[in-house]
Amino acid sequence: MQDVNYRPKIVAFCCNWCSYAGADLAGSSRLAYPADVKIIRVPCSCRVNPLFILRAFQRGADGVIMAGCHPGDCHYTSGNYFARRRMTLLFSMLDYLGIERERTRVEWISAAEGAKFSKTMNEFAATIAALGENKRLEDLRCKK
Ligand code: FES
Repeated sequence: MQDVNYRPKIVAFCCNWCSYAGADLAGSSRLAYPADVKIIRVPCSCRVNPLFILRAFQRGADGVIMAGCHPGDCHYTSGNYFARRRMTLLFSMLDYLGIERERTRVEWISAAEGAKFSKTMNEFAATIAALGENKRLEDLRCKK
């Protein structure tokens, strides 16, 4: 049975040039998104090593989302193409590990899409809340 006080822990890796600016725009436009979403700013989506996502799950994250510039708009030309390939491989590995596919997500959000950022984070938080706690990869050494 799920704890009534349960709040999902969500990690969002956001590229500096688009998605982080989109989060900023969402904030300055007063578009709400859940405080459960903890943003980690990265220079580009290709900076996100798939091991970061596995480590986030080990450290207690219930959901991890990676957001970057739209394909073709990456500040570093092709970083998000590399990120997309890596995430495709990671998704099949997560399937193999038995982690629900819905716990990870990749989104392309530009600096002008504050509304999309807010909507995506709200939807993702609702999905993760419905799935409940992630126990699969939890590293017991990381327990408080
Ligand atoms: Fe945004 Fe590369 S700089 S995805």
